Amino acid sequence: MNKRSPIGVFDSGLGGLSICRAIRDALPQEQLLYFADTANNPYGNKSEQFLHQRAEQIVEFFSKRGCKAIVVACNTATVHSINKLRARFDIPVIGVEPGIKPAVKATRTGRVGVLATKQTLDSDSFARLKHQVYTDVNTDVEVIGQACPDFVALVESGRFDDTLTYETVINYVQPLIEQNCDQIVLGCTHFSFLTEPISKLIAGKASIVDTSMAIALQLQRRLQALELINPDDIGSAMSFFSSDSLECSSNGLANCWPFELNVARQVNF
Ligand code: DGL
Repeated sequence: MNKRSPIGVFDSGLGGLSICRAIRDALPQEQLLYFADTANNPYGNKSEQFLHQRAEQIVEFFSKRGCKAIVVACNTATVHSINKLRARFDIPVIGVEPGIKPAVKATRTGRVGVLATKQTLDSDSFARLKHQVYTDVNTDVEVIGQACPDFVALVESGRFDDTLTYETVINYVQPLIEQNCDQIVLGCTHFSFLTEPISKLIAGKASIVDTSMAIALQLQRRLQALELINPDDIGSAMSFFSSDSLECSSNGLANCWPFELNVARQVNF
């Protein structure tokens, strides 16, 4: 592994490409390997044991390709596997978690809505995160979770802007607005691609909290500290791998990553 080695990023599908877009902006010289576990999408209804085993297999795949850092670009996989991955692999592993802290700091109504998978909302780490934020920032704020299972399939099929998407957004987000939430946290990487329909619904009533850029900047800090920033100025490049056939994700892929790909291929392990 060296400064020119790639960074491995994975998710259950295309959602983690929202994190890759932020990495591309913050670190435009880095090479990315992306793994979309589309054969097992969604992760939101899988067991903890399955998710942990799968995360290990994917990080092994990246590690064999000499990755210098791993980004678990999935809240659901992060809550169940990040500690075990860090214990097992000798590579920096960066995870994602819902941005409750900035939301609790920013709220004026005292109510924060979190859109995430049921797995994330029900996890011990989400409960710990809430507890920590209450202790560190403000105990009076109410954090209201909303599971959004249908959002993931909409993003996977590239439907960011059609009637069904708007109806689904109303279904999940309107109840949070009615409960007076003025901060809406995107607690699943897929949901960043639905920023537009969500913004239209909540305009003037609430703000969206999206941590994609914060994750990219955290990655940058880790690479800087380890002197692993790529010194070449050749522009970013991505190799895309998926566990299901590429035809299944082609529509969504073109919408989530409208940039050139070095390679796009199916891999099975
Ligand atoms: N993108 C994911 C997350 O951040 C996983 C969604 C899913 O596969 O259910 O939680």
